[in-house]
This record gives sequence, structure tokens and C-alpha cells, in this order.
Amino acid sequence: MFSAIRPAASTLSRATRTRTFMSSAAAQDKVVAVLYPGGKYAKRQPKMLGSVENELGLREWIESQGHELVVTADKDGPNSTFQREAKDASIIITTPFHPAYVTKEIIDNAPNLKACVTAGVGSDHVDLEAANARKIGVYEVTGSNVTSVAEHAVMTILVLVRNFVPAHNQYAKGEWNVAEITQNSYDVEGKVVGTLGIGRIGRLILQRLKPFDCKQLLYYDYNQLDTATEKQIGCERVEDLEDFVSRCDVITINAPLHAGTQGLFNKKLIDKMKPGAWIVNTARGAICVKEDIAKALEDGQLNGYGGDVSYPQPAAPDHPWHKMHNTWNPELGGGNAMTPHISGTSLDAQARYVAGTKDILERIWGKKTQVEANIIVENGKYVSRSYGQH
Ligand code: NAI
Repeated sequence: MFSAIRPAASTLSRATRTRTFMSSAAAQDKVVAVLYPGGKYAKRQPKMLGSVENELGLREWIESQGHELVVTADKDGPNSTFQREAKDASIIITTPFHPAYVTKEIIDNAPNLKACVTAGVGSDHVDLEAANARKIGVYEVTGSNVTSVAEHAVMTILVLVRNFVPAHNQYAKGEWNVAEITQNSYDVEGKVVGTLGIGRIGRLILQRLKPFDCKQLLYYDYNQLDTATEKQIGCERVEDLEDFVSRCDVITINAPLHAGTQGLFNKKLIDKMKPGAWIVNTARGAICVKEDIAKALEDGQLNGYGGDVSYPQPAAPDHPWHKMHNTWNPELGGGNAMTPHISGTSLDAQARYVAGTKDILERIWGKKTQVEANIIVENGKYVSRSYGQH
């Protein structure tokens, strides 16, 4: 059984703001939302709806429906605002960017809980088995930020292959040494690029790479595309995982985190890759074994690793991915294209996942069926075909 993974206690985050409001009408549902702290940036940028300060822009509407809303960023540990407030919540809203880990224990201690809504895409931070055992619906805003992630992944592929990070860092230091950078700078043209997972994001990435004239665009997925779509994208399926990784110069990971993908990219699999290949992972940090990635960079088996996801989140200061580097430009951060979890929460994406979250709530309160693509589990069953073969 796969359980929502617990973060280390050392990653406890501080409460940014908690506001509770009861409308004068009898509250029907208590909604607890865990969002990322926006601080002065959220004040400066009101479009940052995904922050705790801006409350998804939904407070007024939720309260006008007669419901209660609690918003917090304080999410980890039994004394956190989230874990205390979750006990009598009917609906929990979370975001992958600052994930509240909705464990079996939290679910078991929340007798009124009927739905978990992910404001974004990727619901691995909810224990889906525990949700099924209680027939709690887990919904997400499918498709809301897939273009944003695909853009980030393509950018990261380019950044790594062309050796951009060391080039920029060198220039910012006031230096000019062409050879120091070009010793490890290539073109994406002519490379074999493969995606693990050919869902919404995987296929958008390959579509965006088509004009780069890669040698081959490959994919590995138990869900196969139809021939017409493969032809339109110009990609080819590889059935065997080791065969797939051994053929790629660049691997982009675009599958959800579940029992079949957790720790998949470990030393054993990385050793099957072409020496000097690149990995871009915007899916979930725990799909890769963090120590094995850092070591492979150090040993030269990997040339670069980039993405925006770590486990747990926020990544602790001693997480090896903050400082890892390759053998070519160690002092300039060569081979490291990591960012905090930002790809799927561009301001454009936030507007879309907020609209989708509102739609999911409206359907819950209006007793309407959910859009099928948004349902991960419901009535004790997996509806999504992306969380392993159930
Ligand atoms: P999707 O559900 O459209 O596609 C996922 C694909 O992965 C499916 O085709 C599925 O069959 C495949 N898959 C599942 N297990 C696999 C395995 N073991 N091996 C190979 N393929 C496998 O999902 P979408 O929208 O493409 O998103 C993918 C993931 O990306 C999300 O689950 C989430 O974890 C992550 N994501 C990250 C974001 C970010 O901000 N960094 C934002 C949005 C999504």
C-alpha cells in the first residue's frame, strides 16, 4: 500500500496567517486550505491567488455560501494549524507547491472529511488508499497548469544542455572565459529526448520540442497513445524501462508519484542511462533518490539534473540538490538547474487552478457530478488511470 509520505520534522514551517470566519448563517462545511506564504510579495502582486494572504480569491464567495474558511501555511507536525483544524474539516484544499501531507492518520482523525481538493495537479500528498477506505473524494484541477510546467521543462532542458547556469554565473561575476563554458555546451538538436509519462504534460513537452529537430522523441508509459497522436507528435513508444533510459540523452519525468514511481530513478536505473545524460524532473522529487542523483552528478554518470520539485517540500537547507554540481563547472553550479516548486504556479496558472477549485466546490455544494478528468479517487475507487494500474 502506498501512503502519503510524511515530511521530516525538521521541515516544520511557520504559520503565516490563519483567519477563521463564521457567517451568521449556520456553517454547513468547514473548509481548511493550506497555501504557500506570500508575505510582502502577495501584497505587491494581488494576482498571486495561490498564497495564504490572497486565499485563492475565494473567501468572500465561500462565506457567501454559508461555509467557514480557515487558511494557513502552517502545515507540518501535530501542533500545526493545519493538523489541528483538519480534525473537524469537511473539505481540505491543498496545493502541491506547499503541500500539506494528508496522511492516513489525519484522515482517520477527521470524521467529517468528505473531499480533498488539490488546487493544481498532482495529489500524491494525499494518502489515496486511506481516502478510498473512507470513500473520501480526491479531486484536482486537471490540465490547469500543464502548459506552465511544459514550458518550464523545455526551458530546463535547454538550460542544462547549453550549459547556461555556469555561463550566467561566470558573467555575473564580471568574468569572460568562453572555453570554461563551451567545454560542456551542446545543442538539443540531434539529441534523443524521452519522457517518462506521456500524459498531458509529457506530450506538451514533446510537441514543444518538435521544432528543435531532435534525433528521436521517445516515451515510456503503460498508457499508450494512439497511432495518429504518436504520428502528430512524432514520438515512439519504448516498452521496456531500461531500454528506454539507455536510449535517451535527455529524460524528462512526467508521471505522478505513486507506488510504481517512488524512488524509480535510483542508482541502479541511473547506471543504465547513457553516461553524461541529463534528467529534468518537474513531476515529484520523490520519484528520484536524492543521494543517488547527487552522486551520479559527482561521478559524471549524469551531466545535469534540473526541475522544481523536491521531497519533502519545502526542501530542507541540507537537501543535497541545493548544492550538487557536475564535474565540468563545479564552482559555477554546473549541471544544477533546480528551482523551488514554481513551474505550475505562474500567475497565469494560478488564475486557472483557482477557477477550477471553485468549480469543484460548486459541484460538491450543488451535489453535481465532478468533471471526470478531475477525479483521482471517488467512492472508494481510483477513477484516474495515472496513479498506477488499478
Ligand atoms: P497526467 O495524468 O495527464 O499524465 C500522467 C501520465 O503518467 C499518464 O499517462 C500515466 O499513465 C503516466 N504514468 C503513471 N505511472 C507511470 C509509470 N510508472 N511509468 C510511466 N508512466 C507512468 O498528468 P500530467 O498533467 O501530465 O501531470 C503529471 C505529473 O506532473 C502530476 O501528477 C504531478 O505530479 C506533476 N505536476 C507538477 C507540477 C509542477 O508545478 N511542477 C504541476 C502539474 C503537475
